[in-house]
Parts: sequence; structure tokens; C-alpha cells
Amino acid sequence: MTMGYDFRFTHFEHDHLITAFTTSWSAPSNIALVKYWGKKEVQIPCNPSVSFTLRECRTQTTIQFDLQSSKKEEILFSIQYEGQPAPSFAPKITEFLKRIKPYVPFLTHYHLTIDTCNTFPHSSGIASSASSMAALAAGIVALEEKLNPSLTKEEQTNKCSFLARLGSGSAARSVEGPIILWGNHPESPNSSDLFGVKLAVYDNVFASYHDTVLLVDQGQKIVSSTVGHNLMHNHLYAATRFEQARENYSQLLKIFSKGDLVAFVDLVEQEALSLHAMMLTSSPSYLLMQPNTLRIIEEVRSFRKKSGLHLAFTLDAGANVHLLYPDAEAEKTRRFIEKNLRQYCQDNALIHDRVGMGIKNT
Ligand code: PMV
Repeated sequence: MTMGYDFRFTHFEHDHLITAFTTSWSAPSNIALVKYWGKKEVQIPCNPSVSFTLRECRTQTTIQFDLQSSKKEEILFSIQYEGQPAPSFAPKITEFLKRIKPYVPFLTHYHLTIDTCNTFPHSSGIASSASSMAALAAGIVALEEKLNPSLTKEEQTNKCSFLARLGSGSAARSVEGPIILWGNHPESPNSSDLFGVKLAVYDNVFASYHDTVLLVDQGQKIVSSTVGHNLMHNHLYAATRFEQARENYSQLLKIFSKGDLVAFVDLVEQEALSLHAMMLTSSPSYLLMQPNTLRIIEEVRSFRKKSGLHLAFTLDAGANVHLLYPDAEAEKTRRFIEKNLRQYCQDNALIHDRVGMGIKNT
């Protein structure tokens, strides 16, 4: 972060605000390798996390800002999804705008017309909160840059991640790519609990990694991430889990710099199962994996043994499985996925994605 920049925008007068501005942004989803699970107020992670930014699973958002005759108490907006009014999205956006208001006070002078859509099916079981909050934040920072052209590129990027984080923690990691760190860690001097930063040193094999998402369950999760994060308060294993994540973060940075694919597989799978172990051992306990999730895990492990390839699985907070593999092994791995794994997906649905580079002005 630039020294002295505290994310608050203070210098503006109504007369100097521009009357209308329209901006469009596309932001990707991301998949955590070291998982964020457990948070403090407001959206501060209990442990640092590491993710691959994705390329194809994205949210595209256009915001039209119209200057109002006077400042309002709350930030006013209307929201459309795929061109249709989407009142069910309003509560989450209202909460987001409330949280970010102190950092973007100029927004109380505007009405926002938000038009958004995803490249992946809305009810695919793929969380769109990271990509949607990052796209929204990008549009708001674009207006801020218009009002304050002295904002540097780095300040814009950090602010975008900072605002996105207030919408959904993992959204802090959807602004840049290919590998993002979020949360303080002593081994990354530029890391922060407030926003994501790029990992600087990594073997190139990781920049072209594939992520095929097996859509095991396309329905609503039985327990939301918000509830899951909260169950980490007073969790018997919470302190050990946070320590494990910090240690895995440190190991993963070494793996990235060495290009050690065998160690990558081990660590990523351990992280995924540790995340779900927290769910299994919370009070009340719950289970998001499904029989087909476990079948896929068994198949992946047996394929790896037989083939000597480096296919790894990871999970987010749901039943779907993310399959991670290097580009050089993509052909053989894809054949295995088609032959053995597609059958476990609901309606045979899967999404081929890859590691990508973050938000785009479109
Ligand atoms: O950003 P949230 O509050 O939806 O939490 C995301 C949690 C996981 O996806 C399970 C892990 C992560 O680090 O993304």
C-alpha cells in the first residue's frame, strides 16, 4: 500500500462532481488453495489465504452513476440481472453499500443503475459473490478515479480489493492474478488483512494451470458461508486450523517458487479436506460433501497412482469439485475426466476454466 493512503476519499464538493458516468467491468471468480475460513469484524480473515484467479467464470457489470440534486443518507441504486429487475440481489448490495460508504462518501450524491450478468449459470452451485463484488467495486473505483485523477494505479487496485472484501471476503482475491495472497503473513511483507496482493515469485507452470469444475450439486447450499465462518468462533479446533493454514501458506510459497507439483497436490488436497473437517466438527456439525464428491476424490487419487500425473482436487464450501492440473498434462487428464468423472456431475455438467489475470474494463 502507498504510505499514508487510508482508503478514505475526503476531498470533494457537490459542484465538482461529474453529472453522469457509465462504466463496465468484468471480474473473475477465484479458487482458494489455502482456505479462508473464520473471520473477525469487519471481514478480517482469521488466517491468510492463497488463491488462483480464474479466467472464464466471470461477472460482467455495468454501472451508470447519475448525480442527484442533493446528498442522500444512503446510497441509492437499482439492480438488474441479465436486463431484468433483480430484487432478490438488493439486500446483499444494500449491505455492501452501507459498509463501503465511509470509504466512498461521494456515492451518496449519486444514483447507481447496476446491470449485471455471469458467464456461468446463476444456479450452478458456483459462488458468484467473489466475481460480482469485485466487478461492482471496480466500477465504483473507476468513478473515484474520475473524481480524483491523482489516485495511482496501485491505489486503485488496492482500493478495489479493499471494497470488494467488504462485500465478500474472498472477493478481495478476484481483482488481479494469477496467484493472490490475502491476509497478513510475516513471510510476505506486502501482505494485508485489508486487501489482496499478487504473489511475485512463482514457477511459470502455475500461471497456465487448469481448473475443471465438476458440478456435483447445482442447488443452494444447506449452510451458507456466513454461517460457516461464524461457526469457527468457539470451534474446538479453530486455533489449530488457523495455525495449519499459516504453515501451509508458508509451504505453498516455497512450492510455487520451486515448481514442486507433487508437494502442491498434497498441500492443496489437505487444505480442502481440512476446510470440510471444520464443518464436520463444528457445533452444530454439517456436511456439504455428497456421495459423488467422495467418489470423485477416490477416482482422482487412484488415477494419480496409476498415471503418475499431478491431478489434484480442491473444494470450496459446497459439494462441487475443482480439478487442478498443469497444462502439459491437460490432454490425458481431460480424457480421464470425460471417461470417469463427468458421470458424477448433476446433468453431466462441468466447466473448464484456467488460471487468469483479474478484472478488465470492458
Ligand atoms: O468469501 P466468503 O465469505 O464466501 O468465504 C469463502 C470461503 C471459501 O470459499 C470456503 C474459502 C476461500 O478462501 O475462498
